[in-house]
Order: sequence, then structure tokens, then C-alpha cells
Amino acid sequence: MAEVVIVGSRQEAGVLVADEIARLVRARPDAVLGLATGSTPLSVYEALRSRLADVDVSRVRGFALDEYVGLDPAHPESYRSVIAREVVEPLGLDPERVQVPDGRTAGIETAGEAYERAIVAAGGVDLQILGIGTDGHIGFNEPGSSFASLTRVKTLTPETRADNARFFDGIDEVPRHCITQGLGTILRARHLVLLAFGEAKAPAIAGAVEGPVTAMLPGSAVQLHPHVTVVLDEAAASRLQRADYYRDAWANKPAWQGL
Ligand code: PGA
Repeated sequence: MAEVVIVGSRQEAGVLVADEIARLVRARPDAVLGLATGSTPLSVYEALRSRLADVDVSRVRGFALDEYVGLDPAHPESYRSVIAREVVEPLGLDPERVQVPDGRTAGIETAGEAYERAIVAAGGVDLQILGIGTDGHIGFNEPGSSFASLTRVKTLTPETRADNARFFDGIDEVPRHCITQGLGTILRARHLVLLAFGEAKAPAIAGAVEGPVTAMLPGSAVQLHPHVTVVLDEAAASRLQRADYYRDAWANKPAWQGL
């Protein structure tokens, strides 16, 4: 079962997850981090700045979950740009060691396979940060995605394009296609950390954590993984049936277990 941690704010969530990432990087200087974009992980990256300030991060590697297809890599909302701005530059990572799927249309047919090879060559992802879409997607694996899927091109749902229109000059500017790690790729990471904040995410979280495992709700794939931490604020946790149990388990967790 996923461990569910309900915290008071996204800042508190950021500190909890950043502490775990800093611990990982201290123990394993060439740790491989799975990086997510969107609003959700920002408090983690913010908290990581001070926590990694005195840690040698020169060998840390990173792989982003996804990228838009056909968007100029230099566009400020390409995930290449977002990862550079929010993660690589502020944390002082080596840009050569942080990869984002290649969403340029030339060569897109083989970009997924190339990305899978790069992740395998790096030894796999140690800790994968995940957000969840209101439609239940993780990465850009929209409802119906195979649990065995690897990195490939997908078509975004109208719901996802509407959710992401805030980053663009309206919905028409949001690309229709993306290249995303598959659910099978994500499930290979050694530790999944799924974060969600706000009421709008409550139905997707309830389905992902407590609903049936179904491709209709890709986030439910986390139930198939042996090491998952789900970090939520009260609003995102508001539709969980067993919230009291999760609070009790967290409050009484043996210190030696870690996250
Ligand atoms: P958000 O997106 O963090 O911007 O809410 C999450 C997602 O779509 O996976």
C-alpha cells in the first residue's frame, strides 16, 4: 500500500520531500532523480535550494517525465526551459546530466526509445517525483494509457490542455501532442513520490490511492509499486475514505523506517 502523508501546506510537503532527496543525494552522489513539471513540485524544488547548498551535486542525474511535441525547445513553457529554470539552475545541477524527452518533430519517431535507453544506461531512476492531473494522468499518460507503456508520443486530452492553458496565451497555444515516460517507465523507478494539493485534485487522488486499478485512472498505477509515498494537503486528501488511518500510521511510524 502507498504510504499517505497528509500535511498542512504545500510548503510542508516540499520540506518533507526535499529532506528525503537531500538524504538520498548525500548517500548516493550520483543519484538519479525523476523530475516533474507543473505547479505541484515547485515547493519541493524551492525547499531543495537550501538543503542542497552544501551538498556536492555535480554527479546528480535527472530525467524529466515529459515534454510537449512541436514546441520550440527555447519556448519559456517547454519543459526543457522549465526544468532549466526551476531545477537545474537554482540547484546548481550539471545541465549535461539532466535530460528531457526530445519533443522536436524531426526524429520524434525514435525519441521515446532513445529516452528509454538513456534511463536504463543511467541505472534507472532512484526517486521519481510525480504530480497528478485532474483527469488522473501521471506524466502525460492520459486515461486509457497502458500500464506497460514506455516513453512515446501521446495526444493530450481537452481537460489537460484546458488545465495547462494558464501557462500559455490561451488553450489554442497549448500543443496537442506530448512525449511522455510511460506508466511502465514510471513503475521502474525505485521510489515514487506523488504530490497533490487543492480540492481539484481530490477525486483523482481518491481514485489513484483507493479506487480500482484501472487504465481509466492512470494514477492508480501507483498501487502496483512496492514503494510509494503520497504527500497531500488537507484539500487533496478530502475524499479519501481512510484518511484517519493514514494519519494514525504516520503519527506512529517507527523512526527507522524513513520515507
Ligand atoms: P500541476 O499539474 O502540478 O500543474 O497541477 C500536474 C499534472 O498535470 O501532472
